[in-house]
Amino acid sequence: MSELSVKHLLGIKYITKEDIELIFKTADHFKEVINRPIKKVPSLRDITIANLFFENSTRTKLSFELAEKRLSADVINFSAAASSVKKGETLIDTVNNILSMKVDMVVMRHPNPGAGVFLSKHINASIVNAGDGAHEHPTQALLDSFSIRERLGEVAGKNVVIVGDILHSRVALSNIYALKLQGANVKVCGPKTLMPKYIESLGVEVELDLRKALQWCDVANMLRVQNERMDISYFPSTREYTQQYGVNKALLESLDKEIVIMHPGPINRGVEITSDVADSGQAIILDQVENGVAVRMAIIYLLASKIKQ
Ligand code: CP
Repeated sequence: MSELSVKHLLGIKYITKEDIELIFKTADHFKEVINRPIKKVPSLRDITIANLFFENSTRTKLSFELAEKRLSADVINFSAAASSVKKGETLIDTVNNILSMKVDMVVMRHPNPGAGVFLSKHINASIVNAGDGAHEHPTQALLDSFSIRERLGEVAGKNVVIVGDILHSRVALSNIYALKLQGANVKVCGPKTLMPKYIESLGVEVELDLRKALQWCDVANMLRVQNERMDISYFPSTREYTQQYGVNKALLESLDKEIVIMHPGPINRGVEITSDVADSGQAIILDQVENGVAVRMAIIYLLASKIKQ
């Protein structure tokens, strides 16, 4: 297969195993490119991309911008906090005004689940979902799987546990779709109050005991508790959450094998993961960030190839 089955990357739910394989093969090439002394290729000289961020971001925003610049695309950046959204402009008016400046692709982070799907029905440009509320974060899941493949050789057959605030996590949902498509075994672990009711219908098992989950897995993907998406308390206190669901060095050393630790960031050090774990050789957190640029270059390059046809 030499092209993606989709015009937009709105979620892992909408793509195939073959799409993931093509993205990874292309990302392998771009990873080699970004480790050269000259890190830039002229592939997208005639493409203009708008990065629209209606919600805060550090990693995703910078990673997309760098990926686009490494591909020689023209890039414009929009941040809702400093825009006319504050004066009441709608999403479609905002995007149509930006598109009238001859933009080919939109990378969008938005607090509302489904914002990218909604936009795709109203505009012609290609859309990449950079995180929509608690729905999906497809590029994060792809860079996560790419990093597992890099560290362990393959994703198929690996045992992966996603730990923490599953209920509010777009990273969890996209990772579940991506890992299952590639043939990994997936469990989720966290307080019962932070488990969506539909979770088992996605083909994952719930394990409430962190020690058992870690003993089972090859990879633990530790999630942040998303206090900003909570209007009520889902557990008695942060201290109790950490006692039950935080990973520290002593816990990892008590297992009879060495597991890989992942985290999408931003980390709450000392809450879901201690510094001696986050900064250890078992953690591939900064590899995930590095791989994010190559994976996003691959996605943008492959989507742009469809625009050029
Ligand atoms: N992992 C992630 O999406 O981080 P940011 O919110 O900083 O983009």
